[in-house]
Amino acid sequence: MSDVRISRRAALVGSGAIAAWLSSPARALVQLAGEARTPAFINELIGRMTLEEKAGQLQLMASAWGGGAALALNPPQGNSDFSKQVEEARQGQLTGVFNGNGATMARIMQTAAVRESRLKIPLIFAADIFHGHRTIFPVGLAEVGSFEPDLARRTAEAAAFEAAGAGIDWNFSPMVDVARDQRWGRGIEGGGEDVLLGRLFAAARVRGFQGNDLKSNEHMLACIKHFAAYGAAESGLDYNPVDMSEERLREVYLQPYKAGFDAGALSAMSSFNEINGVPSTANHWLMTDLLRGEWGFKGFVVSDYTSDQEMVDAGFAQDGREAAKLAFLAGVDMSMQSGLYRQHLPELVRSGAVPQARLDESVRRVLTVKAMLGLFDDPFRRIDLKRETARSMLPQTRALAREAGRKAIVLLKNEGDLLPLPRVGKRIAIIGPFAAGAHDLVGPSVMYGDDSKAVDLATGVRLAIGEPGSLIIVQGSGVEEPLPGGIAQAVAAARQADVVVLAIGESAVMSGEAQSRTEIVVPEPQQRLAEAVAAVGKPVVVVLKHGRALALEGAVADAQAILATWFLGTETGNAIADVLFGAYSPSGRLSASFPRASGQEPYYYAHKSTGRPNPPGDLQPYKAHFRGIPNSALYPFGHGLTYGKIAYSDFTQSSPRLAMNGTIEVAATITNNGTRAAEEVVQLYAHDRTASVTRPVRELKAFRKVALAPGQSQVVRFTLTRNDLSFYGRDGKLTVEPGTFDVWIAPSAESDGVRGSFDLMA
Ligand code: NOJ
Repeated sequence: MSDVRISRRAALVGSGAIAAWLSSPARALVQLAGEARTPAFINELIGRMTLEEKAGQLQLMASAWGGGAALALNPPQGNSDFSKQVEEARQGQLTGVFNGNGATMARIMQTAAVRESRLKIPLIFAADIFHGHRTIFPVGLAEVGSFEPDLARRTAEAAAFEAAGAGIDWNFSPMVDVARDQRWGRGIEGGGEDVLLGRLFAAARVRGFQGNDLKSNEHMLACIKHFAAYGAAESGLDYNPVDMSEERLREVYLQPYKAGFDAGALSAMSSFNEINGVPSTANHWLMTDLLRGEWGFKGFVVSDYTSDQEMVDAGFAQDGREAAKLAFLAGVDMSMQSGLYRQHLPELVRSGAVPQARLDESVRRVLTVKAMLGLFDDPFRRIDLKRETARSMLPQTRALAREAGRKAIVLLKNEGDLLPLPRVGKRIAIIGPFAAGAHDLVGPSVMYGDDSKAVDLATGVRLAIGEPGSLIIVQGSGVEEPLPGGIAQAVAAARQADVVVLAIGESAVMSGEAQSRTEIVVPEPQQRLAEAVAAVGKPVVVVLKHGRALALEGAVADAQAILATWFLGTETGNAIADVLFGAYSPSGRLSASFPRASGQEPYYYAHKSTGRPNPPGDLQPYKAHFRGIPNSALYPFGHGLTYGKIAYSDFTQSSPRLAMNGTIEVAATITNNGTRAAEEVVQLYAHDRTASVTRPVRELKAFRKVALAPGQSQVVRFTLTRNDLSFYGRDGKLTVEPGTFDVWIAPSAESDGVRGSFDLMA
């Protein structure tokens, strides 16, 4: 994307702050050094800072802005003592603020910092922009279902274009926590249950946010979070501890963070949870030995919101002073929101509890990244009132949201080819709490987006069909409460209709931070609505809204067609209508398995076998399954139908053996036997039959999305090397062992597809 209409220089003309900045000591240092990245300039600046100013550079606070012109575009924040916060900027007590209110606020604060503070060090402005700034894209978990990492790069880039136009330098995203327990509410923000997808999407999002030039006013700094293993909270309860072997940590949970850092992310956020008894925020092994030592990370680490202070309640630090010391010495450079660093670091250094050199090191990291963001060259490079509006919700950005929305939708079931629906000639009733209205569209954790600017389902359908006047819309139920008379109205509507679209599921507040659920089902009043509507006997298409994989039951599970539509953002209704009426053949795949029952959680396809797997067929006694249900998913990871009829055949492999340093090619023929074009996500899974550490029953190794016209076949080939077959051994080191490997080329993690096996030779 480019922003040719408004030049940065033009936007700066008339700013008194600029004149002050041009003659400021920090600016002079930049000019002397010639290049803001040079350590000489940063070191010289550090040499002039007091302990308090240094601690200030390590203290980030929530924005206190509570009013002003930017309110038209921004929600107000709780704390309205903005003048006090501006004074803190003047006094050098702040490195920046987060979740503020756009260019107006940023301009006031930045002016105070670079014009009136002693050293005139620019502030950094951060925000939570998880799935879009003003134009809202599908939630992370949904977008991953596109199996198209480049789509995530493009939506991240578009989010950066809008946000960086509104004064935001630093995004607290991507969230890349592997999430394998659907009770946990924050899986919605991330990359799902799979390691390979997690890695690819983490890297793509970093590239999208940061671009190739961190100084660009169209990009912003990415933040890898929540480091580490936040998604593995015990029992899916948010903030809960994690107790895990180092092998599993390395092989599964650490992988997407590493991919994000390898893609160039220069900031990280410590997670709220503990790992094996040590809070991440005070975990020296994690923050220093691994992150900096082993992985070579050069950016800075910020705590999560008061996660340093929270170590007191967690029983790890006796008070705020000790919490600050433990977090800082572990390698957390910056404290978010608690105020502990600016409160305690100067004294901790004076008393010798924290070495001065260690303080300087963290300040250097933060200032270096500020310089890389171009803030020392031009502190106002992302602060521009005109640009903020000019970049907001452009038609091409909305078009991208619609593309991403339809690619994220997963067709779970389509009995009798009920979908796509005809545009004319059928009377459609849309029934359910998500049928219509400007609510629950953009999803949870949205700071700057707005349901009122999003397209709801009824509007999308009206625009898509030939006879909008014939559409019947009935709410039928609240989300978690019944609606008086709602079921009777719904039943009457279903009777009048030829087909029912049942828009049910979870509201936005049911997932996201602190929104864990014990039962991951469609809420009871809506389930009753579904049963009553189904009893009318008309064909039913369930359009699910959800922030997690759900356990579907009764009439919902039995509906003829089911679409998993998550939270799709600004273009929700249009994207769903595109799929409902066949303008787009669904191509999304599940990024998280839908279990058969809530009690199976944590359920993920890449589980271990146990010594007593139930053989295919009937449930057998004393085999690994819950009472009455198989140990498999109702709809597994990778599942998703198309409007074609896809068949897998003719597995071939280049050899029965793979030499230790060689390659092996496996292939299958994929055919569309249907009458409609389709895009199939062809997936390659592998399983190591015997190893010194037991291996998952299957692991995704590669995938390819292929477009197939009716009647078309394509041979899809994959190449494997020993690197694809490696794992962490009992010594915690990456290893690969000779032996027999099974491979599947299949349409999901639990379908047969076509298969073969080969021996990896010593
Ligand atoms: C807490 C959340 O865990 C984190 O993801 C977010 O970035 C911060 N709050 C700031 O809002």
